[in-house]
Amino acid sequence: MGKTLKIMSLILLSVAIVMGGAGDADAKKKKKKKIPKKPSYVGAVKCNGSCHDAYYQAWVKSPHGGTFNLLKPGERAEAKKRVDLDPEKDYTTTPLCLRCHTTGYKQRGGFKPAGSKNKKGKDTSSTIDPEEPNKEQVGCEMCHSVAGGAQMRVVMKNTKGDFKKSDTEKYGQRWDYANVCTRCHTHPNTPFKPSVHDKYKFNFEERKKKVHKIADYWNEDNMDQKLEKAEDRAKEVSQSEKTPLVIEDFKIKKGKLKFKKGTKPYNKKKKSFNYQK
Ligand code: HEC
Ligand code: HEC
Ligand code: HEC
Repeated sequence: MGKTLKIMSLILLSVAIVMGGAGDADAKKKKKKKIPKKPSYVGAVKCNGSCHDAYYQAWVKSPHGGTFNLLKPGERAEAKKRVDLDPEKDYTTTPLCLRCHTTGYKQRGGFKPAGSKNKKGKDTSSTIDPEEPNKEQVGCEMCHSVAGGAQMRVVMKNTKGDFKKSDTEKYGQRWDYANVCTRCHTHPNTPFKPSVHDKYKFNFEERKKKVHKIADYWNEDNMDQKLEKAEDRAKEVSQSEKTPLVIEDFKIKKGKLKFKKGTKPYNKKKKSFNYQK
């Protein structure tokens, strides 16, 4: 190819890219996204998207962003031995472990382990990309959502962060943070109890400070994602803070995870939320 021709085609290509991009942005502005009817988990990668990059990047490096690996053979052998787990066993498909080490297991849109199939026998297991942790870890939705990931994401996007706690609560976001940790940390079914080792003691105020160490993850590209209304929101006391939502309780029956009746925070039939009395 001649040099001028090369330059010409490069110019054409970049014009096309710029125009295409602008078209997209316009379309987005015009069209408010519709809120999906059914609550569903979407995964941490979606929360990163164009919205929470610093939170996502910090989470990837945080203990919650790596919980799935702990279920693999050879990981944390000492800790497993201490609680009579087999350090050589692969626990990545064990329902009990998946409940607390992945996102939305056994709920709509949630993580599906290797070997999952639908009725027609088609493989439905979640894809796992080691470069991009997602539903296979304890993701954003295990603390922020009841089951409405897809729904509240649309609310957040449409309002560009200018929302009240109550606006997202309608779609399943919960703000009863202290309550949420009890799903796993102080749950009777966790093998890792304070009686086994002091390090498993759970002090909410102290641990909370370690969840989002975002300070080092702001850069030129995500600076514009800093939350603008966060301080106003912090002053608001929402419904789930006054009366926390119930936490799903579960049992393992014939090797499968079953949620106990009446313990789900979201009532699918009534389309309403169950608050603690
Ligand atoms: C009810 C929730 C729950 C269940 C069920 C559960 N875990 Fe965990 N697991 C946790 C929590 C919470 C921690 C973190 C404890 C801490 O650091 O205070 C943890 C930590 C771990 C650790 C790291 C411990 C350390 O000291 O390094 C391993 C390994 C682990 N889990 C494996 C498993 C395996 C394997 C199963 C299934 C047999 C399982 N877990 C089931 C909640 C759970
Ligand atoms: C283990 C529980 C947990 C996980 C997992 C988690 N968060 Fe959080 N998040 C919290 C807690 C607790 C707070 C409040 C304290 C704070 O801001 O550090 C919070 C606050 C936030 C806020 C500020 C909200 C506001 O308006 O004040 C954002 C945004 C956020 N998280 C996004 C995310 C994203 C994105 C992910 C996943 C990449 C995520 N979180 C994963 C517990 C969690
Ligand atoms: C779905 C289960 C789950 C929920 C909900 C959860 N955690 Fe965890 N958390 C874990 C697991 C599993 C680990 C172990 C990670 C590891 O050892 O690498 C962990 C580890 C941690 C750690 C790191 C411990 C350390 O020694 O540094 C902190 C801090 C923590 N959790 C705080 C919280 C707080 C605060 C909440 C509630 C807002 C919460 N977690 C909710 C499962 C959960």
